[in-house]
Amino acid sequence: MRPRDVIRTKRDHGELSPEQIDAFVAAAAHLDGSGWERYHLTALLMAIYLNGLSPAETAYLTVAMANSGRRLDLSDIAGPKVDKHSSGGVGDKTSLILGPLAAACGVIVPMMSGRGLGHTGGTLDKLEAIAGFRVRLSEEEFRTALRRVGLGMIGPTADMAPADRTLYALRDVTATVESIPLITASILSKKLAEGIDGLVMDVKCGRGAFMQTRPEAQALAASLLRVGTANGLRMRALITAMDVPLGCAVGHTLEVIEAIEVLKSRGPHDVRELSILLATRMVELAGLGDAAQAEQKVRAALASGAGLDVFRRCIEQQGGDARVIDDYHRLPTAPYTAAVVAPRRGFLTQMNAQDVGIATLLLGGGRQRADDTIDPAVGILCRAKPGEFVSAGATIYEVHYRDVQRWHEARERLEGSFTIGETPPPDTPLVLEELV
Ligand code: URA
Repeated sequence: MRPRDVIRTKRDHGELSPEQIDAFVAAAAHLDGSGWERYHLTALLMAIYLNGLSPAETAYLTVAMANSGRRLDLSDIAGPKVDKHSSGGVGDKTSLILGPLAAACGVIVPMMSGRGLGHTGGTLDKLEAIAGFRVRLSEEEFRTALRRVGLGMIGPTADMAPADRTLYALRDVTATVESIPLITASILSKKLAEGIDGLVMDVKCGRGAFMQTRPEAQALAASLLRVGTANGLRMRALITAMDVPLGCAVGHTLEVIEAIEVLKSRGPHDVRELSILLATRMVELAGLGDAAQAEQKVRAALASGAGLDVFRRCIEQQGGDARVIDDYHRLPTAPYTAAVVAPRRGFLTQMNAQDVGIATLLLGGGRQRADDTIDPAVGILCRAKPGEFVSAGATIYEVHYRDVQRWHEARERLEGSFTIGETPPPDTPLVLEELV
């Protein structure tokens, strides 16, 4: 089967056959001289981006990608296994909070996360701000973490969903990320390979998300639910607003601190409530209570410090320096801080999450090329959020930086990222919709 014929099928709006999808996935997983080159893969990705995939093609692609590598069988570990995944946002550190909270309630959480994609942050990069934290565990180490702590936070191992690793990297640099079938297959192939029983999806919607409009986010959530449940996963999907950064901190060290603060029953209200809601859904999916009972368990785990204790044990189990929980100076710190201030008094009416994400990237807190290393110390603290009244000269952003040139680039982006008006903006809900 010639790659060009497969590409032509999709280019001309045809339906890919199972054999054609298998050939594409095998090539992505191995690139072994079967006639497929990277340029064939990217051409087909673009054809899919432009012309879409039918539900049947999407489902087939997802399972083929999950089967492109090893699929974990965790049935020997007692307890319900439930994970959560987000479609990508700015300042979203909820995984660091809800994983420990759900585990403290008795859920086994085999959390396999990703790195930052585009202007959005990734859980793995955040965890690596903690000295020594190993996100690469052998399968045996991962199983031990799940047995001992109830939580393991890792990246996809080399032999799990290898087709996604190739395709994810190619999509990131070829403007083919924002595709519903490709996002569905990317997320769910990893989740199916992880051996879970249930999955809570947080589909982000708005300026800082890959799905910018509500209908797009609904279509992504429906696609994820359709393919996930057809493959035996118990699922819930929430559509949550991502116009404004979640919480105040954006950037790795700053986000880890904010997550720990929430686990200490402090921290911003929006991060805390979204983490509690998502953890509640995980507890429900695990069959450990109805909605009210699950929420009560999660709130109790937060108030008692049980969630914080799980996070501490998770860090220790994965080789990290758990003393960061009591001493934030043990995290990498940027040498300089500067402020972006309000040019006049009034209500902060808008703050563009995408600009804040890109400014963090410009500071060195993200990858502009696949092989870039991340500076975990840099980042942005939002000192005011939409709805607040600010005086002229008040700090809107506290910027943590290392390099003056990069700070200037970030400042330019940040100065255009917010608006100030005479009247407060309307209240907008964080959770827009929930789908079962
Ligand atoms: N997260 C993923 O794992 N894949 C995507 O394509 C987007 C978000």
